[in-house]
Formats: sequence, structure tokens, C-alpha cells
Amino acid sequence: MLEVEGNFQLVSLNTLKLECIAECYALVSTTVELQEALSEARLCSANINVLGGGSNLILNRYLPGMTIHVGLKGRELLEESADEVVVRLQAGEEWHQTVLWANGEGYFGLENLALIPGSVGAAPVQNIGAYGVEIAQMIECVHVVDSRNGDIRALTADECCFSYRDSLFKTPEGKRLIITAVDLRLSKHPAVNISYPALREAMPHDSATPSDVLMAVVTIRQSKLPDPGVEANVGSFFKNPIVDREMAEHLKGEYRDMPQYPVDANTVKLSAAWMIDQLGWRGVEEFGVSVSEKHALVVINKRARYASEVIEFTHKITSSVSEKYGVSLDREPELVGSDQRA
Ligand code: EPU
Repeated sequence: MLEVEGNFQLVSLNTLKLECIAECYALVSTTVELQEALSEARLCSANINVLGGGSNLILNRYLPGMTIHVGLKGRELLEESADEVVVRLQAGEEWHQTVLWANGEGYFGLENLALIPGSVGAAPVQNIGAYGVEIAQMIECVHVVDSRNGDIRALTADECCFSYRDSLFKTPEGKRLIITAVDLRLSKHPAVNISYPALREAMPHDSATPSDVLMAVVTIRQSKLPDPGVEANVGSFFKNPIVDREMAEHLKGEYRDMPQYPVDANTVKLSAAWMIDQLGWRGVEEFGVSVSEKHALVVINKRARYASEVIEFTHKITSSVSEKYGVSLDREPELVGSDQRA
């Protein structure tokens, strides 16, 4: 039987540890419970919010409507050949535990994505990526429930429209789809991807195994990024901006040390961390919010209670980057809810 709670405090369910009151809250552990929660929300014309691991959200003070916490659990082997497997991962599974599980089973490809906070269901939304690998490369299909009518669908990777930190699930149409499970195609061959310079440098020798890579990624992340379990954060707070080549060349002329990564023939990705760092923001604290001492792309909530303080502080950062470099930074986590009770 589905349990719906009113005026539910979400502070312990988001890694930025912001106070937020959900008007209605339901933890669902099956697709049927999810459909039930959706019907209840439809009955009172309430809008729907989806909560996974809460590690890529900035929760405003009030969240009107029905907040559905996706708690579906399980991992299963769907297909196996001599070379590959297809596994089905339920959306409520914790991402890092899943990476460890796959490695333990001898299913390879996820090592570079170790220690990314959040749940399996959140991974396709922002197409999680790290150290030269993106989840999109492994996705076979994404299972969803349409929040408008409760219908079940399975989307192919192409239909998910993945790109850098982006997917269909961030569009207004895609936001209506609630991810219940993700099928991944993984390799049984222990090939590794150590193309990312910092990762290659961390490898003890050339014949690295997937377990070596996994351990190296964990070590690099632990040394470079603050642990959300200890310091409240949502990982990278800003996306790395993608600009056209002309703009990149102009900036390189002015700032010779500026890191730049070509995306294709016409566009270049810039390092948001580098620009924020150059402007002296690392370690700065205002309104109880700070830029991490460890990594300039990570914003730490030290003692702020509400999203408004995080937004005010980070707005100052984006303004200074825009003023100095003429580049606008987009937030990576999504801001949801309202700062006033409806
Ligand atoms: N840098 C600075 N100051 C800092 C941190 C970094 O100048 O405080 C410079 C570095 O020296 C380097 C450049 O910025 O030249 C890039 O740094 P890094 O290798 O740490 O990567 P990033 O572009 O800042 C991205 C992802 C991370 C991911 C790493 C590794 C985005 C928004 N972030 O960070 O993802 O772990 O690459 O692949 O794409 C996340 O999404 O939460 C996340 C942590």
C-alpha cells in the first residue's frame, strides 16, 4: 500500500543539505507503486517532482505537488555472449555500488565512472561522465513511466538524445518521463580507457586492468573532490562551457595557460574550474556557502539553510566569470521548487 506523507522535510535526502518542504512525498519501490503515486497526483492535479539520490538538485524552500522518491532496487543479467552482457539496473540502486558490482562480476566499462554520487536513475539524465567516459556509450535502453498517463516505455540510446551533460530527460518533454531502470551493454573483455591525462599519469604500469583503473579513479576523486557525505555538495556546480573556435582562439591569445579541449571542428570546451580559480574564488565563503578548497568547480554548503543563499553566492561567481572572460556559465544541478509557499 502506497504511503503518502504531507509536509515532508527533504533536508536529509539532498546532498547539498538544503531545507525543503515537499507538499506530498511518497517513496516508491515498484513500478506499480510509482503508477499509484502518479494517479493520486493526477486526482488532485498536483505537479510531480522526482527524487533519486538528491545529488544533482538544488531544492528550493518549498516543493509543491507530489514528490516521488524512486526506490526501485535490483540488478539482473538480461543477455550474455562470449564478449558482452546486457544488465538491467533498477533506478533506485546507488551508482557507485553498481560500478563495484559490475567490476566484481567481470562486466567492464564503468570503471572511469566510479564514485560519482547519485542513483542509477539519475545517471542518464545528465549523461554522467568522467575521465573520458560517458554513460551514454554503454546505454542499451532506458525504461520509463510516463507521468501523464502511467504508460511504460523503453527508449533506445538514440531516442535519449545524449550529449555532454545533457539528454532528452532535461527537456520539458523528457521531464515527464520517470526513469525506472537502465539497461547497459558491458564488455567481458578487460579493456580499459586511460585516455584522460590525469588518469594515465596515475596508472602504475601500461598493462592496467579495469580494477586498477577503478582504484585510480577512486583515488583521484578522493584527492581532488570533496566527499558529499562529509561536505555538502553536488559535484560540479557548473558545466564546462562550450564556445565557438574563434572565441576560444581569442581567449587563448589573452590567456596562454587556459586549458581548452576541442569538441569538434567548430567548438571548444573551456574549463570552468580554471576560470573560477583564476578569479580567486577557491576557498571563498559567503552566506554560509563556499567554493571548495579542493576544486573550484564544487560549491560547498557550510551552513546555509536555503537554496536562495546558494543562488546568491553562485550568481556572483558567474557574473565575475562573464565580466572577465565574456563566457557564461550554466549550472549543472537543477533548481526546483519555489522560495515561497504557494
Ligand atoms: N582546475 C583548476 N582549478 C581547480 C580545479 C581544476 O584550475 O580548482 C583546472 C585543472 O588544472 C585542469 C582543468 O581545470 O586543467 C580541468 O580540471 P579537472 O580535470 O578536475 O576536470 P573538470 O573539467 O573540472 C570534469 C567534470 C567532472 C569530472 C572531471 C574528470 C564537468 C562539469 N565536470 O571536471 O565531473 O570528474 O572532469 O573527468 O564536466 C561532476 O560532474 O560532478 C564531476 C565532478
